[in-house]
Amino acid sequence: MKKFNTLVIETTVSVLDFLYMRRDIQRFWVLEEIARAPYFAFLSVLHFKESLGLRGEAHIRLMKRHFEQTLNETEHLEYMEQLGGADRLVDRVFAKSLVLVYYWVMVLYYLISPKNAYHLNMLVEEHAAHTYAKYLAHTYDKNIEKILQDEIDHYNELKESMEMFK
Ligand SMILES: [Fe+2]
Ligand SMILES: [Fe+2]
Repeated sequence: MKKFNTLVIETTVSVLDFLYMRRDIQRFWVLEEIARAPYFAFLSVLHFKESLGLRGEAHIRLMKRHFEQTLNETEHLEYMEQLGGADRLVDRVFAKSLVLVYYWVMVLYYLISPKNAYHLNMLVEEHAAHTYAKYLAHTYDKNIEKILQDEIDHYNELKESMEMFK
């Protein structure tokens, strides 16, 4: 599954890089819009399991962590909106459509295989960190520096969450 995850992410990144060539802020906004979806999906599945009485050992810890991650990703999204990343209707329609599909895919993926769902999102966070680092190499922005650190933290947190599952 790890090879499949890598293929999915590499393909998506290539398409986004092509569509958003020389439009960094819009691309960041789309990425942030997408980046929130897995955390919403993880929370939905955890709530669902909770409703069925399937509360595992790490349940509360994961709920708390994923809730914090959704809030943090929303802060990133709001910053990109301040910079004008969501000004165009076409970008909003594109991202919102993509995120609806991605959310439901992630709900199913996390339900079936939490470990692989975490791995896929580690790749997303890794890509986000790499993208911001590349941008900061030629543009100073202290907020994006902070966002870069958040993405690295998300990567490490996902890795830790992944290791909680056998
Ligand atoms: Fe983010
Ligand atoms: Fe993130």
